[in-house]
Amino acid sequence: MPGDREVTSAGATLLADHVGPGRGRPALDTGTGEGSLARRLHQLGYRTTGIDLAPGAIAAARDTQHGEGPAWHLMDFTSDDLGALPDPAYAVVACRLVYRWTDDKAAFLDRVRQVLAPGGTFWLVTELAGRRQADDLYRHLGISPAEAEILTACWSVVGTADLDVPRCYALRP
Ligand SMILES: C[S@@+](CC[C@H](N)C(=O)[O-])C[C@H]1O[C@@H](n2cnc3c(N)ncnc32)[C@H](O)[C@@H]1O
Repeated sequence: MPGDREVTSAGATLLADHVGPGRGRPALDTGTGEGSLARRLHQLGYRTTGIDLAPGAIAAARDTQHGEGPAWHLMDFTSDDLGALPDPAYAVVACRLVYRWTDDKAAFLDRVRQVLAPGGTFWLVTELAGRRQADDLYRHLGISPAEAEILTACWSVVGTADLDVPRCYALRP
């Protein structure tokens, strides 16, 4: 996955299976980077917003967009006012390859719950520790079992699906 940030067709199929068609409902991609996951949500019919704290990421997301697509906003999801988001609640909140880098994971998840609509889905993609070989340069990208436990606590529905290295979580309040 590092060096290849596009969501694969297998990843897109899992996403579609777990979040369903958008039908114009709002979706939020947190830490969108160049926006690959946000564009997949847009293709599913979600009215999608991609946010990132890095100006370069938002510029790259805008540059790679041709025609209709998500809206892009410069925003730090962990510290900025969530009231600045375009919608008060989202049918899907998505987060791919970001959770690993979040210092206060419980606080991050609290903020996800604040913007997730009732019955909505939190779609999170992350690597897991131990899935790469010991000499793999990217082996540090995986989250620990304790970090996975923090992630999956306090949801009424916890769905998981595995890609070759990353795991996808579909979490519902
Ligand atoms: C490893 S990249 C993943 C990008 C994209 N989600 C993907 O799958 O290709 C992590 C991204 O998360 C962004 N990010 C990290 N913490 C963030 C935060 N608190 N708020 C918004 N963006 C954040 C970084 O700027 C970076 O663009």
